[in-house]
Amino acid sequence: MIGLIGGTGLLNIPDVEVLKKLKIKTPYGSASDEFLLAQIEKKEFIFLPRHGASHTIPPHLINYRANLWGLKKLGITNVLSIATVGGINDAAKPGSVVIPDQILDYTYGREHTIFDGVSHPVEHIDFTQPYNKTFRDSLITYARSSGFQCHVHGTYAAVQGPRLETAAEINRYETDGATVVGMTGMPEASLAKELGLAYASLCPVVNYAAGRGDSKNELSHDTITANSKMLMDKILLFVLNFIKENGN
Ligand code: HPA
Repeated sequence: MIGLIGGTGLLNIPDVEVLKKLKIKTPYGSASDEFLLAQIEKKEFIFLPRHGASHTIPPHLINYRANLWGLKKLGITNVLSIATVGGINDAAKPGSVVIPDQILDYTYGREHTIFDGVSHPVEHIDFTQPYNKTFRDSLITYARSSGFQCHVHGTYAAVQGPRLETAAEINRYETDGATVVGMTGMPEASLAKELGLAYASLCPVVNYAAGRGDSKNELSHDTITANSKMLMDKILLFVLNFIKENGN
């Protein structure tokens, strides 16, 4: 079953049948919200808004461990993360969508592992390919067959937030190889891998990153929120159709 994690601009799923709202206990405390078991044309999936249903949880305070552990406990095998990003290089213009294939992690101080020697023994997972190839490929194949435009390569720079970046930081991330920048991709991706969940991400580009394009001198959070809402209709349609085709 597919678990869908929604980010900014995707706090609920209209037009699907909600079967149950599930609140579960995890060893790591509370998840961002209740898990919504929903159904579209007989395909069940679970939805979780990572910032909470009213967008009250900032990226660095999201309980990523509880969210991913909860999805696993509910029988999820594949996690599709929707995560808005700023576009750093020319390919990733606002309005486009990136399915990243690599990650640079600049976050700090987040509870980022279940292999902490307390809840689980110490273990060092392989993270060479941070996203699940089979799941990414199925997303890309479906995007191509349904005419959904997206970039199928890109490096996601995960930053701490909640503040946006300086122009110099964006220059540094670009030099490091980043295509897009966002605040929630880590430790979500590595926790999914630790838990054996197939994880892929769909990243709507909602603004030029700081110092780029029309964000040359300033970047407002209102712009990000407004653009996320606009792009989300398109993303949601794609995702629900993808679940209809590939869900179980
Ligand atoms: N920076 C970081 N996170 C983001 C951005 C950005 O420009 N846009 C959307 N999420």
